[in-house]
Amino acid sequence: MAKRALITGIAGQDGGHLAKLLHEKGYEVYGVIRGQLESSHPRYQQTQNEMPYVKLVLADLLDLAALTRAMQEIKPDEVYNLAAISHVGYSFKDPIMTADVTGKGVLNVLEAIRLAGLEKTTKFYQASTSEMFGGLDYNRPEKGYTEESSFHPRSPYGVAKLYGFWITKNYRENYGMFAVSGILFNHEGERRGPEFVTRKISQAVARIKLGKQDRLELGNMDAKRDWGYAGDYVEGMWRIMQQDKPDDYVLATGETHSIREFCELAFKETGVDIEWQGTGVKETGVDKKTGKVLISINPDFFRPSEVDLLLGDPTRAEKELGWERQVDFPGLVKLMVEHDLKEEASKA
Ligand code: NAP
Ligand code: GDD
Repeated sequence: MAKRALITGIAGQDGGHLAKLLHEKGYEVYGVIRGQLESSHPRYQQTQNEMPYVKLVLADLLDLAALTRAMQEIKPDEVYNLAAISHVGYSFKDPIMTADVTGKGVLNVLEAIRLAGLEKTTKFYQASTSEMFGGLDYNRPEKGYTEESSFHPRSPYGVAKLYGFWITKNYRENYGMFAVSGILFNHEGERRGPEFVTRKISQAVARIKLGKQDRLELGNMDAKRDWGYAGDYVEGMWRIMQQDKPDDYVLATGETHSIREFCELAFKETGVDIEWQGTGVKETGVDKKTGKVLISINPDFFRPSEVDLLLGDPTRAEKELGWERQVDFPGLVKLMVEHDLKEEASKA
């Protein structure tokens, strides 16, 4: 009989990649979509059209009753909890809701599994994050954060995710559940939401190339991230769930790049060389050939506190899971810009 997987956050970036992977592996895939979206709703229909092989389940991460019903009816072999308020900047604006969904929501899913009497049979994956490390100098190992590094979250999102991480570990220890975390560093791609910096850049580059936009406004240009491709990371999630012994793993590339480097490579894909001029909020990214300002700073995108640098060490995942990323940093930028050039060109 086919294994059954339930994915929360099915309509998000990772949800789509993971659903496709599990479907290709022969799983029966169920996807949780927010409760108020009726089947006639465009968002529901869009998700269903994109993933016709997924059986959509209406539920909210805040609704324990709906989640418990879903567990009782589906009896999944594997649950992947990907749903969250996942935008770090937004979490400063709505910290309460972020704590409820991104933090306590994890407990709701775990409790739903337990209330349905499935804690000995259903495996649980929690989408933990490198944001839990915080990127401060004192806890940053030279080769990158590992499973042993200490945490110091710098946003309401990071704090909520830390609760999710510990409650998952707690259920593993308390009830003997196969409950694990993937501690994933940034992963991007053609499904990335436009509110995240990489997609904001790749969409803007495409729109500027096609004459639909004049300029790209960004916030903190000094931040550095360990960016991989989301398609590679969902393979890692699945591998974490196939281990004999439940444990937590870091998935990362082991490289870190600045927002400036991402911009430079992305514009280069459309034949534009960027030259940086000025400093601080007056910094601009200029088209070397024409002298036109294409990038400028808008302090509205600054955050009350920043994670300056993220770098992960994936050694353990590579050794124990045999996990290996396929897409490197230039490949990621290229893939995103090429996708957005096609997508923008197809729009009126
Ligand atoms: P995403 O694109 O923001 O997707 C999150 C999904 O959660 C969305 O589909 C959203 O639904 C859903 N959601 C939000 N609130 C909900 C609620 N109350 N009830 C039910 N569903 C709700 O995030 P992602 O990039 O795919 O990331 C997946 C997970 O991995 C997230 O938990 C994220 O925090 C974590 N993570 C991501 C990265 C990364 O670099 N992408 C790295 C580490 C960890 P709507 O579609 O209706 O808005
Ligand atoms: N979003 C955004 N928009 N970020 C900007 C901008 C901008 O205009 N300008 C500069 N940045 C900087 C942010 O301040 C941050 O330092 C960096 O770009 C990356 O921002 P995001 O792409 O929003 O991602 P994130 O690193 O904050 O969070 C993502 O990765 C985490 C894993 O480390 C999200 O996917 C989280 O859900 C995930 O846990």
